[in-house]
Amino acid sequence: SNVSAEEPQLAEPHLGAVLASAGLDAEYVRAEGNILYQRGEDGGEIPVVDYAGGYGSLLLGHNNPAITAYAKELLDAGVPVHSQFSLHPEAAELALALNRIVRRETGDAEPFFAVFANTGAEANEAAVKHAEMDRGIRLGALLESIGSGLAAVREAVRDGSATVPTEVFTRLGLGPHAAGAAALDELIDHINAHNEAQAQRPPVFLTPEGSFHGKLVSTVQLTHNEGYRTPFRALAAQARFVPLDQPGALRKIVDEERGTLLGLVVEDGQVRVSEQESPVICAFILEPVQGEGGIRELSPEFVREIQEVCAEVGTPVIVDEIQSGMGRTGDFLAGTRLGLRGDYYTLAKSLGGGLAKISVLLVRASRYQGQFELIHSSTFAKDGFSNRIALKVLELLEADDGAAYRRAAELGDRLLAVLGSVRDDFPEVVKDVRGRGLMLGLEFHDQSGAAAPPVAEAARAGLFGYLVAGHLLRAHRVRTFPTASAPGTLRFEPSIQLSDDDIAWLESALRDTCDIIRGGYQRPLALP
Ligand code: F0G
Repeated sequence: SNVSAEEPQLAEPHLGAVLASAGLDAEYVRAEGNILYQRGEDGGEIPVVDYAGGYGSLLLGHNNPAITAYAKELLDAGVPVHSQFSLHPEAAELALALNRIVRRETGDAEPFFAVFANTGAEANEAAVKHAEMDRGIRLGALLESIGSGLAAVREAVRDGSATVPTEVFTRLGLGPHAAGAAALDELIDHINAHNEAQAQRPPVFLTPEGSFHGKLVSTVQLTHNEGYRTPFRALAAQARFVPLDQPGALRKIVDEERGTLLGLVVEDGQVRVSEQESPVICAFILEPVQGEGGIRELSPEFVREIQEVCAEVGTPVIVDEIQSGMGRTGDFLAGTRLGLRGDYYTLAKSLGGGLAKISVLLVRASRYQGQFELIHSSTFAKDGFSNRIALKVLELLEADDGAAYRRAAELGDRLLAVLGSVRDDFPEVVKDVRGRGLMLGLEFHDQSGAAAPPVAEAARAGLFGYLVAGHLLRAHRVRTFPTASAPGTLRFEPSIQLSDDDIAWLESALRDTCDIIRGGYQRPLALP
């Protein structure tokens, strides 16, 4: 490094100190496949097996040779990287390729339009903005048709072809009235005030407890972790967090939030009150397998309830496949196995092959508002380099009739079996192992009563997983992290380049760590 020890540390120094406190302050100088190389004190390279996998962006491995070779080809050919506001045939090709895959897996007949962005959170922000724009348009159309209905009723009452029965007033809490022009005005004013109040309500978002959808202004409000979310709650619309696997909880929340718009219609010469669902609930956003929240796959029953309730209220479902998608669980979309059908899909992370920053929002054609393209964009989105790298990623995933998906599933089964054998041998240490494909988690039992005071203290502060991660790195050259919002769970998201040796390497590291924990830390963890 060119920065000497005397220079001030100015690049997020607080984070550096936190890493150092857990012994995670490693510097990596090279990366290949499933291995990161740390610079040793003698200047040599120390291999570290990487189970953090760029937090899910490296399904194809570090510096995948097919991708780096293609990147060099693109750069040597001088492909335009930034040519905003021009035709992008490669983006059209990418959208078509994504459609073919998504529609093959979900069986959905409708096309999905693609909007491009750079990061995962940004794709979710675009989804939220699009859903809110669509909600506003639908709300506006409803209010307009209600307004014409009211005008028609006014006309019908005036020309004597309709009368207003008393129960219309009592039903709206206005007390009995004699029919007449003044009474009708009062009725219409009341309905307009009611509808105006409904229309002014801020949008409500629904998302399961434990969700993580990013850390930007609106997405952080859809992220359950209070530490990330609450300092910024005044900045954006709020979410209701739905408990997992509590049948009926979603319906109860929806019933609390939903609202109706009132109108008047004439039936058989009588004026009657009409009611329609007001689109208050902007979207339901979910991860099929929660990543940052502790590697939790949604149950098919919960998924079914979500689909039913959202269909009933007309709420679009946003499926965040940013971490779980692109083949990581053995299918391109992790939601496929769960019977999940989204109106929106967000993709990022591994779509960029570990080299490009790219995210895509897919929107079901029947929900799509084309004007969105003119009011949402980014300097860096849809660039010629990232689009082509993403196309190459899809080509690699789809090659040999989906060999990469099968490999992710098969490696995942093997890795899960190994984690399961560690749990079986250390049931007092390991609480649970779970996940699908190459998106796995291992949860420890609570260590806040541990015999070693520093361990107990770290556990009480929610940092036990970081101590274990530090030990695994320092003592075993295994890189993994706890899931940030469920820090007693370690995550394993290696690439499909994982080898038998890598799996054996992890197994012996985990067995050693569990042995230390079970032995009451007589033999200490490798702490800084
Ligand atoms: N959605 C999901 C499901 C994610 O896992 C992440 C990031 C994002 C959105 C945000 O994407 O970082 O590109 O803005 N997850 C990382 C994690 C940070 O720790 O699992 P981003």
